[in-house]
Amino acid sequence: MSSSHNADASTSGAEQNAERTGSSEANAASDIQQNVVAAAGGQGAPHSSAEAGPSTQSAYYPPSLSDFTGPVADSHNSSSNSDTDSAVGDFVSTRSQSLSESVFDFRNEHGRRYHAYRDGVEYQLPNDEQELDRLDLQHHLFYLTLRGKLQQSPLDELPYGVQNVLDIGTGTGIWAIDFADRYPTAKVIGTDLSPVQPVYVPPNCHFYVDDATADWNFDAPFDFIHGRMLVVAIKDWSALFRQCFDNLTPGGWVEFQDLNFPFRCDDGSAGPDSAALQWSYKFVEGAAKLGIDMTAPNKFAQQLAEVGFVDVQVERYVWPINRWPKDEHEKEKGLWMLQNMQEGLQGFSMGIFTKGLGWRAEEVEVFLAEVRRAFNNRKSHVYLPIWIVYARKPS
Ligand SMILES: C[S@@+](CC[C@H](N)C(=O)[O-])C[C@H]1O[C@@H](n2cnc3c(N)ncnc32)[C@H](O)[C@@H]1O
Repeated sequence: MSSSHNADASTSGAEQNAERTGSSEANAASDIQQNVVAAAGGQGAPHSSAEAGPSTQSAYYPPSLSDFTGPVADSHNSSSNSDTDSAVGDFVSTRSQSLSESVFDFRNEHGRRYHAYRDGVEYQLPNDEQELDRLDLQHHLFYLTLRGKLQQSPLDELPYGVQNVLDIGTGTGIWAIDFADRYPTAKVIGTDLSPVQPVYVPPNCHFYVDDATADWNFDAPFDFIHGRMLVVAIKDWSALFRQCFDNLTPGGWVEFQDLNFPFRCDDGSAGPDSAALQWSYKFVEGAAKLGIDMTAPNKFAQQLAEVGFVDVQVERYVWPINRWPKDEHEKEKGLWMLQNMQEGLQGFSMGIFTKGLGWRAEEVEVFLAEVRRAFNNRKSHVYLPIWIVYARKPS
């Protein structure tokens, strides 16, 4: 499946979501690696994972890995897609009707495309089709990790149900679209620096180009604010958490799902000198030089509590770097993680290694060839920690 994510050309993101729309797996079993801890201000055991999402009838059809490995085609500004392509094309996102041309002035570097909106805002990952396909693939990794759930916050506890939802740094919008499908009575807003979301989306889903680090200016408060995989995007997490607090209704929930670098290996099968671990150490170092803390999730619980949130929960998961685990579920995650890393590696590395570490692009490419080989090595039991941190604004 080739996907288009642009204002003029996207249909297949919506199609993917039509396939992906499914019921929340109420009472989903926890990941075998899950280790839930009560953080500062927490209340012990995690909340029930049962969800009261209104749509429980449709089945989830997982994509095939080959859906994400086809030729990369940049269809930005293509006019070849017709409206009739969309399986769920029931509503044109308001975003597409109001954007100024300048947000499409994407920057090209090292053969990759980067965002244009507020070019001074340094986001180091590309926004081209290759990266957008990877983000959709990664969404499936989260689906596997949370066994079909989109969030861990106990939204069924909200006194008036889920009404207004914000997804910060929404990327392709795939989480927001899935959420809007599951909660058709909620209004879901996704914001991003890049206007790369599909045009045809559920009628209760809206996308806006917006810098999450600037002052927020929304019409109404939210009862759920979500951000996923933003650790490479945000420098001042306390400031972001403060804006979340100020823009939530009393009793509302905030949730961040992110990776927590560096890679780990617990059994010595990959030493600190292995290319996989070295890549992650250098990535952390290069990001730090640019003011980005790739270990930021370690502080989320404390920072959320300092801002005033309560019931702070931290859940830890694992993404094996390839199919090395014995457990079938972990093995499947490893399969998707390997593809995720192979697809993403150049995009993750170019900005951070050239700007943060001062490497030449050619040096980066040579190193990445070795790293790719290391990622494939099933004798190395390397994994990436994934943390989900959620908290409630006091009533
Ligand atoms: C790694 S992607 C994750 C996308 C999406 N949350 C997901 O999980 O699929 C990070 C996204 O954050 C966006 N982003 C980075 N800095 C941002 C900012 N200051 N304001 C809004 N979005 C931002 C990027 O454009 C990118 O789409």
